[in-house]
Amino acid sequence: MNVKQTFLSNQAQITKNPIGLEVSHAKGIYIYDKKGEKYTDLIAGVSACTLGHSNQKINNAVKKQLEKYTHIMVYGEYIQEPQIKLAEKLAKNLPKKLNCSYFVNSGTEAIEGAIKLAKRITGKFKIVYCKKSYHGSTHGALSYMGSEKFKEKYRPLLPGGIQIEFNNINDLKKIQKDIAAVIIEPIQGGSGFIPAKKQWLKKIRSICNQHKIILIFDEIQTGFGRTGKLFGFENYNTIPDILCLAKGMGGGMPIGCFISSTSHMSKLSKNPPLGHITTFGGHPISCIAALTTLNELTNYDIIKNIQKKEKLFRENLKHKEIIEISGMGLMLGVKFKNKSFCEKVIKECYKKRILTFYFLNEKKCMRISPPLNIKDAEIIKSCKKIVKIIDYCIKTNN
Ligand SMILES: Cc1ncc(COP(=O)(O)O)c(C=O)c1O
Repeated sequence: MNVKQTFLSNQAQITKNPIGLEVSHAKGIYIYDKKGEKYTDLIAGVSACTLGHSNQKINNAVKKQLEKYTHIMVYGEYIQEPQIKLAEKLAKNLPKKLNCSYFVNSGTEAIEGAIKLAKRITGKFKIVYCKKSYHGSTHGALSYMGSEKFKEKYRPLLPGGIQIEFNNINDLKKIQKDIAAVIIEPIQGGSGFIPAKKQWLKKIRSICNQHKIILIFDEIQTGFGRTGKLFGFENYNTIPDILCLAKGMGGGMPIGCFISSTSHMSKLSKNPPLGHITTFGGHPISCIAALTTLNELTNYDIIKNIQKKEKLFRENLKHKEIIEISGMGLMLGVKFKNKSFCEKVIKECYKKRILTFYFLNEKKCMRISPPLNIKDAEIIKSCKKIVKIIDYCIKTNN
């Protein structure tokens, strides 16, 4: 069997037609295939590689930690410097009530932890979530995905899910006092990077306060600088009770976390204890990568420049076929008139070695979420190529 056949038969697939780029190595915003072709990566592993590929500082920190120790003990028993330094740095950069981090392995696990914690704090179980939301693929997180198509074959899921429409103020009447938590992405990822309206989020916050409901923000995509603030909620002046992070947090290494107050978190350690157990959660290698990423983001002008970079994308991605660019910061959705044209542009971009991607619930939109340290010149060059590709797609459309 050749490599492609092995990939398709011995490695489980999640779509019928995976991209199948055979990766040799990657550096900065570029991925190189085995034939030596260079691809410009405008998706960064779907908002995960915050500081680009093979970032030297992250690599050095990881190598240093590798020589000291890797996995030592299951989560929470021993004091490990990468974990406590990361927890401390997160607390320093967050409001007081978000001072305690529980480190896990992925975004979906962060959501699981957050939901369990909300149940423990409130003694209630019903969860309000949004239409077109995506919070992860494990059974709990999947229960609160706002798309029946992806859920129905896995039912029964968790009971007590109540769906509301994103940004619909009238739907907020569904948030009654028997609800344990409301879970929101401040900018909806899977639906084409749609930002929440400020007033809508504020209203949710006030209803949650009124009925002692836990407000969970899923910042698995919006966290770690992507919106032009370190955390997405900073754009809204609305603070959640539990914050979930993952993806870009690890700068390319697998990590997630859910963050709340020490007193809320203490619920997981008593009556009964072991409220959430993980072997590898807070892995020292992932924690050191996350700490290095956070240090880079807070020490340098990377976040300050995000808005300027967003503007560059918006100014240079002008074409009569583009009807809108949604999103905020470096999470942008380029919307076309129809799904088939969008698909064609994404495919043609790939052929011309520009990596963009789809959205789960918005097929007219092309995803752009590059490393946050992409250079201005790289943005301009990529946009020029995309505009030419759109022209080509019009010419060859039939
Ligand atoms: C908003 C959001 N929440 C949760 C997840 C799940 O994260 P993971 O794939 O690390 O489990 C994702 C992943 O795409 C996401 O975008």
